[in-house]
Amino acid sequence: MVYMADTDYRDKALRLVAEMTLEEKASLCSGQSFWNLQAIERLGLKPIMVTDGPHGLRKQAGATDQLGLNESIPSTCFPLACASACSFDVDLLHEVGVAIAEECRQEQVSVVLGPGVNIKRNPLCGRNFEYFSEDPLLAGEMGRALVQGVQSLDIGTSVKHYAANNQETRRTVIDSVVDIRALREIYLAPYERIVKAAQPWTLMCSYNKVNGTFASDNRWLLTDVPRGEWGFEGSIMSDWGATDDRVIGVHAGLDLEMPSSNGMNDRLVLEAVGAGTLAEEDLDQLATRIATLILRSMDALVEGYTYDAQAHHALARKAAEQSSVLLKNEDRLLPLSPDQDIAVIGAFAKQPRYQGAGSSKINPTRIESAVEALESLGLGFGYADGYHREKGADPDETLIAEACALAAGKDAVVIFAGLPEEYESEGFDRLNMDMPASHVQLIERVAAVNPNVVVVLQLGAPVELPWRDKVKSILVSYLGGQAVGGAEANLLLGHAVPCAKLAETWPLFYEDTPSSLYFPGGSKSVEYRESVFVGYRYFDSASRQVAYPFGHGLSYTEFSYSDLHADKDRFERGGRLAVGCTVENTGTLAGSEVVQLYVGLPDSSVYRPRKELRAFAKVELQPGESKQVTLELDDRSFAYYHEAEGTWAIEEGCYEVMLGASSADIRLKMQVQVDGDGKEQTLAGLFEKLPHYFTLPDGPLEIPDKEFEALYGRPLPPSERVPGTPFDINSTLNDIKDTKAGKLIAGQLKRQTQAMLGDGMSDDVAAFIDASINDMPLRSMLMLGGEGITRQMVDGMVDLANGKTLRGYFNIWRGRPKK
Ligand code: BGC
Repeated sequence: MVYMADTDYRDKALRLVAEMTLEEKASLCSGQSFWNLQAIERLGLKPIMVTDGPHGLRKQAGATDQLGLNESIPSTCFPLACASACSFDVDLLHEVGVAIAEECRQEQVSVVLGPGVNIKRNPLCGRNFEYFSEDPLLAGEMGRALVQGVQSLDIGTSVKHYAANNQETRRTVIDSVVDIRALREIYLAPYERIVKAAQPWTLMCSYNKVNGTFASDNRWLLTDVPRGEWGFEGSIMSDWGATDDRVIGVHAGLDLEMPSSNGMNDRLVLEAVGAGTLAEEDLDQLATRIATLILRSMDALVEGYTYDAQAHHALARKAAEQSSVLLKNEDRLLPLSPDQDIAVIGAFAKQPRYQGAGSSKINPTRIESAVEALESLGLGFGYADGYHREKGADPDETLIAEACALAAGKDAVVIFAGLPEEYESEGFDRLNMDMPASHVQLIERVAAVNPNVVVVLQLGAPVELPWRDKVKSILVSYLGGQAVGGAEANLLLGHAVPCAKLAETWPLFYEDTPSSLYFPGGSKSVEYRESVFVGYRYFDSASRQVAYPFGHGLSYTEFSYSDLHADKDRFERGGRLAVGCTVENTGTLAGSEVVQLYVGLPDSSVYRPRKELRAFAKVELQPGESKQVTLELDDRSFAYYHEAEGTWAIEEGCYEVMLGASSADIRLKMQVQVDGDGKEQTLAGLFEKLPHYFTLPDGPLEIPDKEFEALYGRPLPPSERVPGTPFDINSTLNDIKDTKAGKLIAGQLKRQTQAMLGDGMSDDVAAFIDASINDMPLRSMLMLGGEGITRQMVDGMVDLANGKTLRGYFNIWRGRPKK
């Protein structure tokens, strides 16, 4: 196949659009089916397929859904983003991207729906397992590498969920209230990095509102910023059912409504063009972008392509090895030696928790458990379940006693524990950071009979670790994908050496988290009062103790840092500063170290975190070997977003450049004089207005209403629904649950889902469905109801909820679809 240059696809698309009827152009505004774009066969435009993502393919051959319910064809489940981000390894992410693209090629999929680069604002977000980091540079770099890997084979990506979608609770309607500086520096930054460096074929806009406007209607978010400022050339699709007002959306820059509203919204677009309320030029631009996407996708579809499933499994294992973080390792208990008398405890060792629930749920080509892998490495060991794998939150005395009996007297005990499936999913958030009592008690009781305990954690997000001082070693696999067991076995036995670092802080207690008082917000909005102080940016600046800091991770070998130097002692705007040091492997095993570069400005006149990650590099070293590591800084490394000026600004000053093995383990430090741009003068009075952001007082981060309002720059919207305000199509079933209409609709939906899925629903799926139904805005009925539901019928339901019974029934009756 001969590929054309990007501009040629665009030129060809422009020619096709010139030949399209208005109806054809409008038809491109939404999908043809759940996973396919609209075709225009007469012009040679095929119905290309897009599908989830992000860490492998979820292509459904039969019944479709976005909940991860119906089966999909087998594909490789690579480590999830929560894990792979800990590798800090852009080459690895690129390689995984290539492998995912190969699977897309075989399955004739044109765009994979990922990566998800939302920031981990709060550890309870149910979908954190699908996201990379609390740090925008790391999230952006991991996403960038994955996108470039996938797109190197001419398969598209959809970077999601754009933007400020940092919780699952009421995700479809919540208004994320975020000050512009936090938006720019934290929440938009990963997208900006990826767009500028990798030109993803598509972005996926999120369900929520961003500062009062649904992402799908938000021209500032969809056009002004990505296209106007960052140079984004691709197209933007909605998340599934995330389209609010389609006509406003077309003008805002939302190219594709997915999956579709059965032609209803396309007709509204047509009418709006006819009535002159929507410029035909907006529709032409949309059609050009979609046609460009289809044309380039069609060229990449090759018949008969096959990938090597075994090689992909091996890559998944390598990636899991590179992604598992060794949190502690007292007395060098790890690696274990095959001569030791070992006990392996915990049902996760036999049946691993290796992926999350929801739209990213993959049907893996195989699953490798730790027990199976340890056996195949020739290790002899005793095994006990310790807890029930399914519905096993309550401790089982018999299983614990059995585990203790096995553990007593052994040279070492490895306990596999973590969070079972029903604890984390797309669709709802966790309620606390607890592990199941059955896992906690097992660890504590076994640790009481044996001093040499290793805990291997399989989970999608941090938990509180009340037992951490009672065990010697902790290895976190996160959700390591289908080969997690093989990776764990290799790491435990020292066939692989841990090298990953935490991509998020593990707080001591949930209450320490900067957003803990402001998550998940009210029924209407969630206020990001902590502003830029997300994750380590807060813990480090407020000198708050944590269980394990961002960037932390041990190895079986040691590294020393020396000879910090920079190529200039003064940084001039627009320039580059190369910072280097020597890293030496001072231990006895080959290993890799992630060198992290942080920048801070101690006496800044704007509030800012004490240090921020500005570059990193991973270096592999043989025992005794040393290498030069050079990292580059540019304007952005020193800048903050100056809201009043609407631009990035650099404050003049003497900045600290710090190189370290974690955010809390700085090994080398130097000062660099940086030229400013004089903009800071306009910031006088900031301290008086926003004192808490400068001082970060002790205790949970509490920002007074007035102060956050001053930061936000306009009155805060009510966070709860004001009683008595009428319901509308964006009211959720939860909002109207006490009305007759609410009870009727919720009952009907639950019956339908039950009928579709039968009784064998697992707890995670049941909880996801329940949350999805409760938080569903009424307008989503248009997507779910297929041809059977019209806008007038939904208006009728709103009338019913508002107590306008006659009008409601009339609208529902009159709105019935014409036969
Ligand atoms: C999720 C997206 C996903 C889409 C399609 C939505 O519910 O938020 O991440 O790509 O469904 O499955």
